[in-house]
Formats: sequence, structure tokens, C-alpha cells
Amino acid sequence: MLQVEDLRVSFRTEEGEVKAVDGVSFSVEPGEILAVVGESGSGKSVTAMTLMGLTRSPNATFGGTAHFGGTELIGASEEQLRRIRGPEIAMIFQNPMTALNPVQRIGDQIVEQIRAHERVSRAAATERAVQLLARVGIPRPRELVRSYAHELSGGMRQRVMIGLALSCSPRLIIADEPTTALDVTIQAQILAELESLRADSDVSIILITHDLGVVSQVADRVLVMYGGRVVEQSDVDDLLDDPQHPYTWALLASVPRVDGEKPRRLASIAGSPPSLLRPPPGCHFSPRCPHRYDDCSNVPPLAAKLVAAPRHFDRCWLTAEDKLRLRSVDFERIGAK
Ligand SMILES: Nc1ncnc2c1ncn2[C@@H]1O[C@H](COP(=O)(O)OP(=O)(O)O)[C@@H](O)[C@H]1O
Ligand SMILES: [Mg+2]
Repeated sequence: MLQVEDLRVSFRTEEGEVKAVDGVSFSVEPGEILAVVGESGSGKSVTAMTLMGLTRSPNATFGGTAHFGGTELIGASEEQLRRIRGPEIAMIFQNPMTALNPVQRIGDQIVEQIRAHERVSRAAATERAVQLLARVGIPRPRELVRSYAHELSGGMRQRVMIGLALSCSPRLIIADEPTTALDVTIQAQILAELESLRADSDVSIILITHDLGVVSQVADRVLVMYGGRVVEQSDVDDLLDDPQHPYTWALLASVPRVDGEKPRRLASIAGSPPSLLRPPPGCHFSPRCPHRYDDCSNVPPLAAKLVAAPRHFDRCWLTAEDKLRLRSVDFERIGAK
């Protein structure tokens, strides 16, 4: 349904060129939840916003392709993008207050969105807004359809935004850190909402998060991004069972354990993500990688784990045997802490 090939996005800044997205490829199938994970600054939002045409500016340059249905998104006209945003691809942002209008009733915002793309009466659109609010778990929707965003809690606002995203029955929803600002209980409810949505309507979801806990709960497939590149990509089970990239090991190790054992955690990964203004040569993770060696000064290819596992790729020069050995060394060291 969506096929992204070698996507590149650079921004010209006063200090030089920022390669925010550096050759990213992935696809999304109908009804699939693809998670995109990585620390802050890894190029997740720029990737997502570029698909929607939201990073266009005189200082931005683009490369690669993104086919969605019959449309090429990267070169699409503003007119084409306007027709796609909403009914084809909808976006949910981290902060609902930036997407919701503070001085317009939430119901009216949904009604407007519906009527911008479909010829339906105001009454019919209002009825649909009420149904949508009910569907995303808003209590007393007939009453709350008349409220303003500031009258609702953070979790309720996030639900309204999901309702707004659903209002034109999109085929793809891009959710950029939709639960990051919410407490864990609400976060779990919102994720459950996204999952049931997929189950009911076969919508595809790209879920951007820096939280591997979220990924393990809802994703079918995972893209791990680091420094503007994909460093690992796999079905979620295989990623959790058999992670191949030292960065993924570090990410996994930083997730607090919930299985009852004494929590072992690396609160965060030592060092900081690379500057995309002056990235290190070769593997972008190499300066922080405990296993780097000479080869790492060249960019590793995104290579399949095994010929027999054609859906699991990673970008690391270590041999399969070395990965297996070094991973258990890494996990043991963390466990001992
Ligand atoms: N308009 C812009 N101009 C210059 N640099 C930008 C712009 N937008 C994003 N960046 C840079 O691109 C990189 C990736 O950003 P982003 O995609 O927002 O990361 P993430 O969502 O993974 O946290 C960051 O280094 C960020 O500073
Ligand atoms: Mg982001």
C-alpha cells in the first residue's frame, strides 16, 4: 500500500546541511501496524511528515520515492496532497493542542473535516462525529461533542484527535508519539484503541515511538532508526527474540522489565545520538558502540539476517556468530548491574 524507497531529506541551515533522513526504505501493508522506533533526533518525524508533504520549504531537498496507492507522494502537487491528507492518510501528533483548535467545539472541528472532503449535511456529519467520539472511547459523546479541547483531559484530547483522524476513513494513519505525553494507564488505553481500530477497519498504522515497550504491545513490524538511517527492520517477534544490531540491544536493555524479576535497566544509552549536521563516517552508531572495529568506518549495508529470514534486516558489519556472542555478553553485563 505504501512503498518508500531510499527516502532522503536534507535541510540547509546556517551551520551547514542537516541530513535528517539518509536513505530510508520500508513498506506498509494493508491492516498492518508498523512501529518506527529510535531516540529523539533519529529522523522519525521528518520521515513521517515528508510523506504528508509537511517538510517542504525552500531550505529542504528531497530524494527517493514514496508510492501510495497510485500516487507518488514526494513529487506530488499541493492539490494532490490536499486530497490525500484526511481521506487517504491522516496524522496523529504528540501534542493534541497543536492540532485541535482551542476556540472551536471539538464536534465542529470533526464536522468541518468531514464536510471538507464529502458532500453530507451538517446534521449527518454531526451524527457521525458523535459516533466517532463514542468509537474512540469518549464517554457521553452526545454531550462532549459540544465541548472545547481545554475542557478535556490529555487522554480525552488524544482520543478526540484519533477521532478526527478517523473522520474521513483513511487507509493509513501516521501516529507520531501519540502516547508520549500521557500516563501509562491512559497510554495503554489509547494503544488498545489503535489496535481495535485496525481490527475493525483494516486501516494501516505507522506508529512512531521511542518506547520499545509500546512496540512489543501493538506492532506487527518494526523499523529501528538511528541517525537518519534504518539500522534494523523485522517482524516484532523476531526483533524481540533475536535482535541483530548493537543499537537495538541497547534499546531493549533500556526497557524496564515488567515480568516480575528485579528490574534491570540501563536508564539510557551511554553517549548521545549523532549530530546530523556532522555525522560520524560509516556506521552512525559506531562512536557509542562497544563492539566497533575498523570496518565500522564504512557504512554497512542493510543486509538480511539469514537467507531463510528475508524479512529481518540490519545494518551492522559484525558476523552472525559475533552478534550472538556479543549480544549475550551485553545482556549479561546489564543483568549484573
Ligand atoms: N526544518 C528543519 N531544519 C533543520 N533541521 C531539522 C528540521 N527538522 C528536523 N531537523 C533535524 O532533523 C533531525 C531529525 O529530526 P526528527 O525527525 O524530528 O527526529 P525524531 O522525530 O526522530 O526525534 C534532527 O537532527 C532535527 O534537528
Ligand atoms: Mg519526533
